[in-house]
Amino acid sequence: MSCKARLLLGITGSVAVYKVCELIRLFRKEDIEIIPVMTPDSKRFISPLLIESLAQNRVYSDMFDESGGAFYHIMLSRGVNLILIAPATANTIAKIASGMADNLLTSAVLASEAPVLIAPAMNVKMFENRITQQNIDRLSGLKRFSFIMPESGELACGDVGAGRLADIQDIFDASMPYLLDNKLLSGKKVLVSAGPTREFMDPVRFLSNPSSGKMGYELARVARWLGAEVTLVTGPVSIKPPYGVRVINVVSAEEMKTAILNAKGRYDLLVMNAAVSDWRFDKRHTQKIKRNGSSLSLLFRENPDIISLASKSRKFGFIVGFAAETENLNDNAADKMKRKNIDAIVVNDISRGDIGFGQDYNEGRILFRDKTVVNIEKSGKRDMALRLFSEIAKRQKWVKT
Ligand SMILES: Cc1cc2nc3c(=O)[nH]c(=O)nc-3n(C[C@H](O)[C@H](O)[C@H](O)COP(=O)(O)O)c2cc1C
Repeated sequence: MSCKARLLLGITGSVAVYKVCELIRLFRKEDIEIIPVMTPDSKRFISPLLIESLAQNRVYSDMFDESGGAFYHIMLSRGVNLILIAPATANTIAKIASGMADNLLTSAVLASEAPVLIAPAMNVKMFENRITQQNIDRLSGLKRFSFIMPESGELACGDVGAGRLADIQDIFDASMPYLLDNKLLSGKKVLVSAGPTREFMDPVRFLSNPSSGKMGYELARVARWLGAEVTLVTGPVSIKPPYGVRVINVVSAEEMKTAILNAKGRYDLLVMNAAVSDWRFDKRHTQKIKRNGSSLSLLFRENPDIISLASKSRKFGFIVGFAAETENLNDNAADKMKRKNIDAIVVNDISRGDIGFGQDYNEGRILFRDKTVVNIEKSGKRDMALRLFSEIAKRQKWVKT
């Protein structure tokens, strides 16, 4: 995904600073221009050379370096979409909260009107100290500032408690809505279903499919990046849900149906990406079924057709389904869209091993109710999600001009 955004990345003197390398990599993968601004103390923890190499941009640190013009702190903070401070020390948070401007980072924050996202990292006692908490509260009360709070766990100093830098992927996800100029789904409520379902025949065996949840999770992630309020109804998968998304975990098709149809309120968009099992066992045995030297016959019953029920419920403004097909792609998908009375369907060819189930890439076609077809070339699942939302937003006239 290519977005022409500029990020001022403030780096401070926390032991968690090594994690910033991974964060820089995630931003660079999306082509985001990074302006790294390091506090003088942070350079005692990590070499500017490493930051410079990963960010593919020079590091700024000395407020009085006149090599590129004297007003770095003003110049740097202009035209940036976001100032992200990660990791943020107690010291830097305190300075910003009291309006100090004694280094390039704190000066740039004060001289700018850009939103500031702060990811604190420190010892639990420092974090829980009332002074730090008051500084955080003070900044949180200002519209420009938001925080992505530290996690609890074992800290580098050996103490246990809150203070560990938030997950890097979460910091990245929390930053992206500021960096995408395109707020396609701003103010929209979106429900995404993802992953497989499991239909148990006894306590240890189930019927399922190889869906990894990657496509659905990218859809939820990108919808949130684009400004939507997102609910993700997910079957069992081994990946972490995106930051800022409300997650409802389910196991069976019946549970998924209940979660989707009973989700509170009305939604602008339902993206039904889950690979729901069409059948379940007629009977779920309470004890493990044992071998008895002969064959075993089990009866299947059809599961509820969730997307058709969603269409009948009138709870969703626009419904898009996914069709994993092995033959007659267009005809099968068009037929499915008609039978289920939905607005669009994304079809992909699962007979190919390089796209779809479990893969990082996808390729397909979006068929709309009005018979228009949009081809999506092989791309990452994230790009495919963006493309899908762009097409829907255009048709629904959600795009602000
Ligand atoms: C080994 C070591 C680790 C430190 N880790 C942290 C930390 O994680 N968080 C924090 O707020 N301060 C930490 N400090 C203290 C800061 O480095 C110190 O307050 C420094 O002045 C911060 O400067 P800055 O905010 O300008 O980067 C640490 C200090 C040392 C020596």
